[in-house]
Amino acid sequence: MSGTTRGRLLATSDIHVRHPENRAIVEAMRPGHDDDWLLVVGDVGERLDDVEWALRLLAGRFAQVVWVPGNHELWTLSRDAVPLRGEARYRHLVDLCAGLGVLTPEDPYPIWTGLGGPVRIVPMFLLYDYTFRPEGTSNKEEALAAAYAAGVVCSDESVLHSDPYPSRDDWCRARVAQTRVRLDECPRDVPLVLVNHFPLVREPTRILRYPVFAQWCGTELTADWHTRYNVAAVVYGHLHIPRTTWHDGVRFEEVSVGYPREWRSWRTRRPVLRQILPAPTGERIPPWGATRDESESAVVPPG
Ligand SMILES: [Fe+2]
Ligand SMILES: [Fe+2]
Repeated sequence: MSGTTRGRLLATSDIHVRHPENRAIVEAMRPGHDDDWLLVVGDVGERLDDVEWALRLLAGRFAQVVWVPGNHELWTLSRDAVPLRGEARYRHLVDLCAGLGVLTPEDPYPIWTGLGGPVRIVPMFLLYDYTFRPEGTSNKEEALAAAYAAGVVCSDESVLHSDPYPSRDDWCRARVAQTRVRLDECPRDVPLVLVNHFPLVREPTRILRYPVFAQWCGTELTADWHTRYNVAAVVYGHLHIPRTTWHDGVRFEEVSVGYPREWRSWRTRRPVLRQILPAPTGERIPPWGATRDESESAVVPPG
């Protein structure tokens, strides 16, 4: 175990602070060591003042906070005092983070040198492109039609605007292309920790209660990123199914807290701060008892 500080790399996501019970969870989030870093992997909230409240609090406690947007931060709700849409809303959030000292996908990728390091932290904003399609469908239109027929439609369809891109999938493809360029430029000597709100591979979505929801959960364009690059771990959220899985020998950590109705139903309480590095011991066993049965009890649609 190397590293120049004694800090750990921790992560959380989907804290959805609109819910008072979740706000209390965030208020209780504290580092175990002065050098601990925290990855906040999207879905802090929908309102900008909620997002600012949570990130300001956490940035004041952890040595470094790194944030990536979830879909909820990108919602434009009529009651929000700052009704920005699409790319303008994302850029506003990035500026907000800069003012708080919080790193975002727009910053140079930082090197983390704590226990289990060094690794290069890669915060990403990639969105989804409807390619995690339901069986029997072959394009976005058919996938969406299946979702509407099933009555399982993500709220993003009405409140996550893609301006100035024609669609969310166009925005996704642009983000993927930009991020690929930056990843290709990373020296391979330092392993990467890839951080994105949405899973980079489709497999974790296979246990969604409503599989048709997977089309709002990622893109096939990232299916080989965990093997294409020198990757130490992948960190994501969005599914509200916190667990550890392995894909081609690479550890994937779903780190969401989820809605109160979800975490109240779990038989086993998990730490809301998940340790990414140093790698938890016994790491081929989900370290916080996220059994498949529990995972399937997650309320879906998530998001
Ligand atoms: Fe969420
Ligand atoms: Fe989400």
